[in-house]
Amino acid sequence: MNTYLALAESVRMINKGTHSILIDYDDTLEFIGKGRSAYVFKIEGTEVVLKVFFPDFAAVAKEEALIYQALGGLEYYPNLYEAGENYLVIDHVKGSTLFQCLQKGMPITENHLKEVDRALQLARNRGLNPSDIHLRNILITDAGDIKIIDVARYRQQKDCTQWDDLKNAFYVYYTRKHFPKKLPVVLLNTVAALYKRKMLPHYGGH
Ligand SMILES: Nc1ncnc2c1ncn2[C@@H]1O[C@H](COP(=O)(O)OP(=O)(O)O)[C@@H](O)[C@H]1O
Ligand SMILES: [Mg+2]
Repeated sequence: MNTYLALAESVRMINKGTHSILIDYDDTLEFIGKGRSAYVFKIEGTEVVLKVFFPDFAAVAKEEALIYQALGGLEYYPNLYEAGENYLVIDHVKGSTLFQCLQKGMPITENHLKEVDRALQLARNRGLNPSDIHLRNILITDAGDIKIIDVARYRQQKDCTQWDDLKNAFYVYYTRKHFPKKLPVVLLNTVAALYKRKMLPHYGGH
């Protein structure tokens, strides 16, 4: 089998300003996600994923590796197996992000939210300051457990209200009897974009 380093080196991308386009990657990699800083692939025949950061984000790779080490042994976070200059190898989480749950109409329960709170509290107990907690970074596994990924911003000083805002939205809207449990992806992305620009009346204004 190829080393993780060789697999990471097989990932080719071009970057245009803040945009990145994926050009090529090894046949044993299956593309499973893209975020603001990296492409993520499942490695065929294994239970791990390779997260390859965009060229300008090598510092984020290093930072995220340190944080995964600090979270080591907590069941709510993937284990880290290897960290390179621009990549990480972590457990593959079999399940759906909360974003995908809303898109597919898979129910999110109060208990799931309490589990996320527990996961974040355990991170705080280790001296971290969980940030960037949003729908694409929280997964519900096929067994119904919560896993949190993308922990790179857990050492920032600034307090992040995203998770509290999401919880509020859950209680104010989602739990209403007639609120649709399945939402079109364009609507989800529009709400996320408005939130980011602090254009929602009660959220993101701080
Ligand atoms: N360990 C994992 N298991 C399953 N899916 C993952 C895993 N890591 C990332 N993903 C998928 O890839 C997407 C991008 O990964 P993420 O770590 O959030 O990157 P970024 O730091 O660029 O936001 C996630 O939203 C998720 O859909
Ligand atoms: Mg992310």
